[in-house]
Amino acid sequence: MPPKLKIVYSVAPDAAALARRAAEYFVDAVERSVVARGRARIAISGGSTPKATFALLADPDQPWRQRMPWDRLELYWVDERCVPPSDPDSNYRMTREVMLDHVPLAPGQIHRIEGELEPGVGAARYEAELRGSFHLEGAEPPRFDLVQLGMGPDGHTASLFPHSAALHELRRLAVANHVEAKDAWRITLTWPVINHAADVFFLVAGEDKAQILKEVLLGPRDAERLPSQLIAPANGILTLLLDKAAAEFLPASGEGGMGTIERI
Ligand code: 6PG
Repeated sequence: MPPKLKIVYSVAPDAAALARRAAEYFVDAVERSVVARGRARIAISGGSTPKATFALLADPDQPWRQRMPWDRLELYWVDERCVPPSDPDSNYRMTREVMLDHVPLAPGQIHRIEGELEPGVGAARYEAELRGSFHLEGAEPPRFDLVQLGMGPDGHTASLFPHSAALHELRRLAVANHVEAKDAWRITLTWPVINHAADVFFLVAGEDKAQILKEVLLGPRDAERLPSQLIAPANGILTLLLDKAAAEFLPASGEGGMGTIERI
């Protein structure tokens, strides 16, 4: 019998409040990791939803930029589009423009996925970067302190798309994945690596995500069709930060907009 997964979700009244909750969640998790391990190695997602949070983390008029122990942070990506870092589609470019250009992170603390390379080569170099920077031995996977995920309206997360080859990768840390629906290549962490992290959270906003969230969390298990169902952290806890629109079809949340779901 697979272990039970406790899904803790927090519902913010709107997207702006969600971005503030996410900024708080990031800094809390990083501070905890620095106290426990002297540093924090985190992996972030791209797409549009995290942008507002990254901007808050970089904003000198907000409390989080001051609180974040930037000198103890090692930044990685969950996935990348196979485009150059200057491309408008690049997750690295998005993060650089809204955050990295405005915060004191040294180049050595930023572990970018090289989307400009041939996908297989880019994935292999990212795996080597993970193995080197985490000082891994043998088949040992990296243990991120925090992984931030998004969810697509099709139920994908990271670049783990429905019915794609990467869903079946259990050994490698990062792979190139061809996405039929976009006729494009992506480079992504594999789900066993994500599930090995100390803390994993989804950041999901908007009414266009409400139906898929319901199916992923409350519907029958079908990870081929709903790859977000593969995310079940080894510590048995999965956190979701949502706005009211995205949480529309979930059981009503209680005090402070908090709710829980137990899943096998
Ligand atoms: C990417 C992401 C991807 C993203 C979802 C949600 O590179 O696109 O990492 O997994 O999180 O597609 O994207 P939105 O936040 O734009 O809805």
